[in-house]
Amino acid sequence: MISVNVLNCEAASFQKAPTPSKLKLLPSARKSVKVKRMSKRFYITTAIDYVNGQPHLGHAYEKVIADVIARAKRSLGQETFFLTGLDEHGQKVQQAAIAEGKSPQAYCDELAATWKAFAVKLELTNNDFVRTTQTRHKEVVQAILARLYEQGHFYKKVYRGFYSTREETFLTEKDRRPDGTFDPAYGEVAELEEENYYFKLRSHQEWLIGYLEKNPSFVCPDYRRNEVLGFLRNHLLEDLCISRPASRLNWGIPLPFDANFVTYVWFDALTNYISIPAALGDPGVPPELNRHPPTSANPNSDAQPALWPADIHVIGKDILKFHSVYWPIMLKAIGAPLPKQILVHGWWQKDGQKMSKSTGNVVDPIAVIDEWGVDAFRFYVLRELDIGPDGNWTDAGFRARYSAELANGLGNLVNRSLSMLKRYRNGMVPPVSNELSADAERVVAETLALLEQNQLQSALQSIWSLVTKANQYVDHTAPFKLAKDPAKAARLDEVLYNLAEVCRILAVLLWPFLPSTASKIHGQLGLEEAPDRFAAARWGGLTPGLAIGAPTPLFPRKEV
Ligand code: ME8
Ligand code: MG
Repeated sequence: MISVNVLNCEAASFQKAPTPSKLKLLPSARKSVKVKRMSKRFYITTAIDYVNGQPHLGHAYEKVIADVIARAKRSLGQETFFLTGLDEHGQKVQQAAIAEGKSPQAYCDELAATWKAFAVKLELTNNDFVRTTQTRHKEVVQAILARLYEQGHFYKKVYRGFYSTREETFLTEKDRRPDGTFDPAYGEVAELEEENYYFKLRSHQEWLIGYLEKNPSFVCPDYRRNEVLGFLRNHLLEDLCISRPASRLNWGIPLPFDANFVTYVWFDALTNYISIPAALGDPGVPPELNRHPPTSANPNSDAQPALWPADIHVIGKDILKFHSVYWPIMLKAIGAPLPKQILVHGWWQKDGQKMSKSTGNVVDPIAVIDEWGVDAFRFYVLRELDIGPDGNWTDAGFRARYSAELANGLGNLVNRSLSMLKRYRNGMVPPVSNELSADAERVVAETLALLEQNQLQSALQSIWSLVTKANQYVDHTAPFKLAKDPAKAARLDEVLYNLAEVCRILAVLLWPFLPSTASKIHGQLGLEEAPDRFAAARWGGLTPGLAIGAPTPLFPRKEV
């Protein structure tokens, strides 16, 4: 059963829907706007991608998930900050740069332009874009390292053993497979002996187990949380090596207390989630880390958004340990509150195989978007795969969903509804009729509840139940027949209103998922504003007498 939580602010704004102009008239409301601006924003992040190659389907999927959640929160009236970006340090990047005969910085700068353009292509609404080579980030990493060092969280020791450059990680005998080799995923494994700094993780193990037990939604979905708990209960944590000798690797952030070392890339990368809030002056980060704290002369403002703790870190399953073990312990040592949730998605395969550049078995999201449009891409990945399990991209599956659900489902509904309104009523919206209002209200309530639980796939299923219902309604009521009988004019008015109003509500519900399509539907209805306020998804919002715009197909049918 889906229940709608009417106690929180989203639901309240959904029920009341005050317009901005009304707010201006009420002194008490004006006060509340001021308070709201100071209040903590919903803060969502993605993993920051390694900049050692081109963006692929897995990167795109994760960013789209975060974008839909961010847009949904904003639509529900919550101020939101969405951070994504790039992980630019480490041996992998250094080696890739050398292979192209470039300096690591020049290499990163070139690729960063590609990745930023990719974010635009996906229509992400990220509020900032972090690059770990930015001074604002490096300063905070060093401030954290200096503080933890002073407080005795680190010690130095000699390590002898194996090292995987590809995964930037030390390996032990335990990592060997029964035949004595290491998993090919580690790439080339070298033996080495070196001195490094270690972070005392082990002393926090019991605390972390307790934290995970007491906070069941800290890692989602459940089976990922159980995986972490199982790991923590059955293994003694190794202390974490947080440095690399500068003699071996210089593409990193120097340790502030020992110039012979740079920072381990994962310590550097995880810190991005709090370094950007600290750089912006977020009052939620520990004061010692805050680079631009609010003062009485310069009180907290939009430029100093209240962000920390993060509400959601969206990540893939392969980096769960870094986010649910290392990161919470780092934050505890720093004295910062933990993020509220690590939301873990699965991995995409192509045609049942691991995607691999060397075999050419990849999905190029840019090519798909260029051919089919960004909304078709966003729709397929979210509708095909729930957040959690692994997914399988097939071109046939993509085309099938495009054709059935987008072209023949949503596209056909909007096009025939608006074309009939144009043809039979000269594009003028008829009087309000409530025949489909119960169906719409059910779907609106369901979508709201599902969005609040980040159930994006189920939300799309629910929204499509309204698409299907409305398409059936066209078939049952047969407006093209009603139009031939002048005695049935009032009935035709009813049918046309219901269809146009369903299209309008669909635009509002679809906005977080398919922003361009939602805007086009609104535009074709003759509505000027963006369909970006969930509160507008209330039956009867379409004004009788409104002149709609020109219907054009949303998803052109393609011959394949
Ligand atoms: O891990 N399917 O970067 P990355 C789904 N820099 N998701 C996938 C995927 C696939 N086939 N392949 C990768 C890193 N991903 C670090 C992160 S965060 C502080 C540092 C996801 O470029 C992967 O799970 O290897 C991860 O969440 C993201 O893409 C970036 O992977
Ligand atoms: Mg990876």
